[in-house]
Amino acid sequence: MPATAIVGGQWGDEGKAKVVDFLMSDHDIVVRYQGGANAGHTVVTDGNKFAFHQIPSGILNSGVIGVLGNGMVVNPFTFLDELKELTSRGIDTIGRLYISSSAQVVMPYHIILDSIDESELEDRSIGSTGKGIGPAYSDKHSRHGMRAGDFLLGKEDLHALVRDKVEYANRMLDMHNAPTLSARKVASDFVNIKDEITPMIKDTQLMMSRWNADGKRIMLEGAQGTLLDIDHGTYPYVTSSTCTVGGAVSGSGVNISAVDRVIGIFKAYTTRVGNGPFPTELKDRHGEYLRDKGNEFGTTTGRPRRCGWFDLVAARYSASVNDLKEIALTKLDVISGIPKIKICVAYEIDGARIEDFPSSYDILNRCRPIYDEIEGWEDTKLGSDFASLPDNARNYIKRIEKELGVNASFVSTGPGRKETILRNKQPVL
Ligand code: IMP
Repeated sequence: MPATAIVGGQWGDEGKAKVVDFLMSDHDIVVRYQGGANAGHTVVTDGNKFAFHQIPSGILNSGVIGVLGNGMVVNPFTFLDELKELTSRGIDTIGRLYISSSAQVVMPYHIILDSIDESELEDRSIGSTGKGIGPAYSDKHSRHGMRAGDFLLGKEDLHALVRDKVEYANRMLDMHNAPTLSARKVASDFVNIKDEITPMIKDTQLMMSRWNADGKRIMLEGAQGTLLDIDHGTYPYVTSSTCTVGGAVSGSGVNISAVDRVIGIFKAYTTRVGNGPFPTELKDRHGEYLRDKGNEFGTTTGRPRRCGWFDLVAARYSASVNDLKEIALTKLDVISGIPKIKICVAYEIDGARIEDFPSSYDILNRCRPIYDEIEGWEDTKLGSDFASLPDNARNYIKRIEKELGVNASFVSTGPGRKETILRNKQPVL
C-alpha cells in the first residue's frame, strides 16, 4: 500500500488541494488525516471552483474512494451540507465516501466553547476559525468525546449518549456564565441525521488493511500546515491537530512503512491567518499587493490573510520536521512582476544572528528577518515548462531547493490544472 503524504510547509493555505487534485489520478484512495471544518481547500477544474472543508478534495476524481480519517474532528451537520452541495454540482460520492468510526464528532457546544475561549483570551486570542476545533480535540484527549462510530448505536442509545454529553458540557457553559443548550433538542438533532450519515461510517482501519492487501495507492491529504502543528508549530498560536507528517500516519491508520512519498507544499511567499508571530510579515503596500494579487482571503472565514516574504528559516525547519526531500512550490505567478524579491535567510534577535527556528513564540515574536534580495522577473504568463521560465524565476526556485535540500518537483504558476510545471526528480543541487 504505497502512500503519498501531502503536508503544508507553512501556516496553511499553501495550495495543498491543487497538488492533491493533480496527483490524484495515480491514487485509488484519499484520506483527510487531521483537522475539521477549519480547513478550506480550493480546487479549480475546467474553470469550476470547488471549496472543500471536511471532505477530502481528492474525491473530485471519479472512482476515487474518500475517507474522513480517524484523526479528524467532524462536524456531521456541516459535513452533510458540504456533501449536498457537492452532489448538487454533479459529484456523485455514493458508495465511495466514508467517515472513520474513530473520528471525533464536533458538538454544538464545542463551537460555543471555542468562541468563549477566544473572547476570554482577549488580546492574546488565537484567531480561531470558530469551528469548535480546539474544544473538540480537548474532549478527545480528555476522553469525553463522541466518536462517529457512536452514530451506529440504536436511536434511543444515541439520544441518551448525546444528552449525557450535552449535560456535561452545560456544566462548563454554566461555569462561563454562558447560556446552556437543550440536551433533548441537540440529541434529537443527532438522531434526525443518524440514518443519513450511518451508511458512510465505517471501520476505516480495517478497510486500510484490505486496501493494503489489494495494493491500492493512498493519498494522505493534510490540512493547515507545519507551523500550525500542535507540537511543532508556533504554540499556542496553532491549531489543535498534528499537521506534520506523523499526523498523516496516526490520523489515517496507514502503515508507516507504506508512506513512500512526502510532499511539502510551500507558497512562493508566506501567508498566515489568525494571530501569532510571523517574522516576514509585510504590513505595508507590499503585503497588500500580495494579498490582492494572490487573492489571499480565507476560504473558510473570508478573513484577509497576513502576507509576507518567503521565510527560509521557517521553511528549513519545516523541511527538517517532515524530513522533506520533495516540495511543491505554489503561486509563483503572484510574485511575478516584483522588481526585487526578498527572501529571509536568518533572523536577528538582540543583536545576534540565528538561523534555527525558535520553538518559543515569544522569542520568535522578537526575531527580525534578515533578507537577501533577489532580482525579480517580468509579469508574463509562466506556463507549464520549467525551461521556459524567466532566468530569475528559475534561480528563485533553485535557491529554495538548495537551502532546503529538496527538489521542487511541482511548481504551480496559476490556479488551473494546466498552470503547473512538473519536473523530473533531479539530484539535490
Ligand atoms: P482553529 O484551528 O480554528 O482552532 O484555529 C487556530 C489557528 O489556526 C488560527 O490562527 C486559524 O486562523 C488557523 N487555521 C486553522 N485552519 C486553518 C487553515 O485551514 N488555513 C490557515 N489557517 C488555519
